[in-house]
Amino acid sequence: SVASRRAVMRAAAAADGASAVDVIVRGRIIGRRRVSKRLAFYDVRVDDALDAAAVGADDATLRDDGRRARAHAALSAGELIEMVVKASHGAFVTHEDVAWAQKTSLKLGNTGAFRGTLSRRAANAHGEWSLACEEVVEIVEEWAKVNPGKAFQRELYLPNEGGESGIGGEASSRVADGASVGACKFFINNAFCAKGDKCKYAHDRAVQREWIAARKANRREIAAKECGDPHGDSVASKQMRAQRFAQFLLEKFGAEVLNAGTGVLDVAGGRGDVSFELHTKLGIKSTLVEPRERKLNKKQHKWLKKKLKTDESTAPEAESMLCEQIRTEFSSENFAQFKDCSAIIGMHPDQATEAIVDFALQYSKPFAVVPCCVFPDLFKHRRDRDGAPVTERMALVDYLARKTGGEVQYLDIEGANQVVYGVPK
Ligand SMILES: C[S@@+](CC[C@H](N)C(=O)[O-])C[C@H]1O[C@@H](n2cnc3c(N)ncnc32)[C@H](O)[C@@H]1O
Repeated sequence: SVASRRAVMRAAAAADGASAVDVIVRGRIIGRRRVSKRLAFYDVRVDDALDAAAVGADDATLRDDGRRARAHAALSAGELIEMVVKASHGAFVTHEDVAWAQKTSLKLGNTGAFRGTLSRRAANAHGEWSLACEEVVEIVEEWAKVNPGKAFQRELYLPNEGGESGIGGEASSRVADGASVGACKFFINNAFCAKGDKCKYAHDRAVQREWIAARKANRREIAAKECGDPHGDSVASKQMRAQRFAQFLLEKFGAEVLNAGTGVLDVAGGRGDVSFELHTKLGIKSTLVEPRERKLNKKQHKWLKKKLKTDESTAPEAESMLCEQIRTEFSSENFAQFKDCSAIIGMHPDQATEAIVDFALQYSKPFAVVPCCVFPDLFKHRRDRDGAPVTERMALVDYLARKTGGEVQYLDIEGANQVVYGVPK
């Protein structure tokens, strides 16, 4: 009953309140129980999970290889968690928001990224972990689109049943110590297995490397086949995205245009990588608009140190080589403050994505945006070409291109790499 479920949840929260953590879980919905208009439970089989606070704070993004799953080691790939979607929680303000999410995103078989608070459930509860869902970040794969006319079969996706390649118990047969032992898929996915030495499958780093390379090649093949990405295998790693994007901006718009007015507005720049490339390395005036504190990585510190040594005559302070940062959320309410910029850009700018193109349209500014997460529950007005709600990244790219009349180009980087850009009339 609802009451007993609530009691279980309360007990779990009380027992484990201290360890409740804000995470983004990526996984497939393999079961659902609608309790009322306001409350539903979903079984989600985890692909990976990471600390929500870490997203954008380091080089982690949602779709990455197994290394990232270590960001939140509590959950292993293949594990089943229970996700609670409840009206008056997070983005689900009313029961209508719950209904909307059920109609558009929370469908059986869909793979998505879900943000919420993770806590350990009471020992006798169904599933060991519970995610109090705050919002759907994006739907990565819609079952109905990938499997037209085919009903979803839960049995094929139950943990440890080996239903889906890449996740579950055993990966592939492998000879270890002379005996045939299967490779552990948790280890392959996460470089970590909670069972440690007690695991009956092999923990083999060479197999893990091979598997990651094969998965990367597979993803690139899909990108080429389904999305027309022309870069094939020869793409740079995600860590290079800021550098590649800065180069793209320089090629498309030119230094003179970018240096006009107050320079480039780098919205939702996270730790400031793109503006570091533009402003500090390429000498293009820029401003970072990001509520979180800027944080340089090791490479950038090293670069600055070297630069300061060679520029001894002028001896600038490292700090003065960084662009200005305005720690605020960018929205239509503060657009006017930035009207003198030369261009507006955003690399994986999450909730700020559409505000960036709205600003460009309102002030006729050159813009370039590389969309990443969709947040379908936050932006319900978006429609794809068929009039359906926009829940996937590709549909978001198309939506933004249609809205702005902009062009779309692929950057030669792994992951979310389509840039929508243009100069509104
Ligand atoms: C996925 S991270 C990407 C960060 C960075 N651009 C990168 O590629 O690593 C998304 C960032 O968007 C920022 N953000 C979200 N909404 C925003 C808004 N309305 N205004 C400014 N920044 C925002 C978040 O704080 C977060 O740092």
